[in-house]
Amino acid sequence: MSNIYGVVLAGGIGSRMGNVEKPKQFLELGGKPIIIHTIEKFVVHPGFDEVLVLSPKAWISYTRDIIRKYIPMADKVTVLLGGSTRNETIMNAIRYIEEKGNLDDETIIVTHDSVRPFVTHRILEENIRFAGEYGACDTVIPATDTIVESTDNLKITDIPNRRYMYQGQTPQSFRAKRLKMLYEALSEEEKEILTDACKIMVLKGEHVHLVQGENFNIKITYPYDITVAKALLGMEDKTC
Ligand code: CTP
Repeated sequence: MSNIYGVVLAGGIGSRMGNVEKPKQFLELGGKPIIIHTIEKFVVHPGFDEVLVLSPKAWISYTRDIIRKYIPMADKVTVLLGGSTRNETIMNAIRYIEEKGNLDDETIIVTHDSVRPFVTHRILEENIRFAGEYGACDTVIPATDTIVESTDNLKITDIPNRRYMYQGQTPQSFRAKRLKMLYEALSEEEKEILTDACKIMVLKGEHVHLVQGENFNIKITYPYDITVAKALLGMEDKTC
């Protein structure tokens, strides 16, 4: 049995977006909520058996409503409760798969930020393929700026060679059973530090394959990003 799940992470409240009326994933972009753009990319991809969308408690019924309104293939989508952290949200998705009796060694989850609406078919395709081949993969782009490290926020502690530096995007994809096992083996303290799901795998010495991302696969974090996203939407419309 090979189950492949899309996992759209929308359990956050978007505090860095400032004082807006809704969590940022529900803000409008070109006539529909940001999260709808993201979910569309998953439902039109034939590789997914089911698309899970994880939402904050207060926004679950709202999420279901807008999916019904905007997504014609809504029966492929299941809305679930998100967790207190991003990793806990991922674990809620895996628990759902387990409760359905579908969690085995081959089960793959392609986890993606709901606020990265410009993910492409090619990126999703390669995530599915490499997670199957290697057990885990992460979508990245080469760092364009030099990365400067400062552990005290005052002075430089290191300037790593830019040739080896990448910026992490999403999707991040995993064999779900293995990720759950490694996550559950962490102490509460480690869970707090390991905010990046791929880092859990890296620290345990697992192979995490690189998938080439796109510069335009941005994460909407600050109000500025909405302006950028509007410009990117125009570009996307022209290429479709
Ligand atoms: N996320 C999630 N569950 C959480 C926290 C975050 O599913 N408990 C999701 C967010 O909804 C978002 C993605 O993870 O789609 C990336 O996180 P980030 O941009 O940090 O989102 P927020 O936590 O919502 O934003 P902020 O850090 O500004 O509060």
